[in-house]
Amino acid sequence: PGRAATAVAHPNIALIKYWGKRDERLMIPYVDSLSMTLDVLPTTTTVRLDPTARTDSVTLDGSPAEGEVRRRVTDFLELLRERSGCFEPAVVDTRNSVPTGAGLASSASGFAALAMAGAAAYGLDLDRTGLSRLARRGSASASRSLFDGFAICHAGRGAGATADIGSYAEPVPAPDFDPALVVALVDEGAKAVSSRAAMRRTVETSPLYRAWAASSRADLAEMRTALLRGDLDAVGEIAERNALGMHATMLAARPAVRYLSPATVAVLDSVLRLRSDGVPAYATMDAGPNVKVLCHRADAARVAEAVRGAAPGCSVVTARRGPGARLQTG
Ligand code: DP6
Repeated sequence: PGRAATAVAHPNIALIKYWGKRDERLMIPYVDSLSMTLDVLPTTTTVRLDPTARTDSVTLDGSPAEGEVRRRVTDFLELLRERSGCFEPAVVDTRNSVPTGAGLASSASGFAALAMAGAAAYGLDLDRTGLSRLARRGSASASRSLFDGFAICHAGRGAGATADIGSYAEPVPAPDFDPALVVALVDEGAKAVSSRAAMRRTVETSPLYRAWAASSRADLAEMRTALLRGDLDAVGEIAERNALGMHATMLAARPAVRYLSPATVAVLDSVLRLRSDGVPAYATMDAGPNVKVLCHRADAARVAEAVRGAAPGCSVVTARRGPGARLQTG
């Protein structure tokens, strides 16, 4: 079974954020998170087993992967080998539509595609829940990219095997909710601090972390009902405050972690102006300066124009809810 497989996965953007790990080895989050999978910027990954090779070969956008990126991929392949009992090295070829590490969750689409292609190549028989648990071991946010539209990643409970079993992603119903997410790529360079290091520092040193985690639980419950109602204003308000709260925990870390740049703040101002002009638009930011603006699809062009005006030179991509990771056949 298996031997070679190709999978495609899309990034997801969290409306309720994951920030902080309870278990760094098993990649168990402290808090539940909830996201929207996008229909743009896919990652395509092929995994081919090579019994004649001595080590894994990892290529990212046509160049050999190095350092931390290579290590994360080979650690993940090691996990696939332990699970499958097949110890052959692999050739991994990954193509991204955006630069890695630029804060557009390319680790989410990357590890979702790698989990799906890798499980197929090594002959692991996993359902989607199992695949989401597996993807989590690569990058916790990747667990959510296994699913179409809106998905929750459960932080689970307990430790060890109990925690591992309990931490997986699943779809969240939002039957009549099909908004636009206008993504402003204000800076496509690599981030200053990796999210992994920044999370650790925040959990260990930020006096605001626990308060945010507690408020995030309440935000999640409200978010579920807002999604069921298809209420863009409620979804947007909850997502915006949850993201700003997460960034506040980082700003209070010692030393502070600050991902937001002057261009980020300029875009946030333009979002406030849109709202005062009667255009519902709400912002969320991750481990980088880029801003994602949630709005009605009918307002997306106007929002994109406002964002471009606020951060001249930024690239803007408009997304909708998109598909979960899938294997490519043929
Ligand atoms: C701010 O999933 O990239 O985007 O699990 O260490 O790989 P690792 O971190 P990662 O962190 C994502 C954090 C976030 C919020 C989110 O997507 O929930």
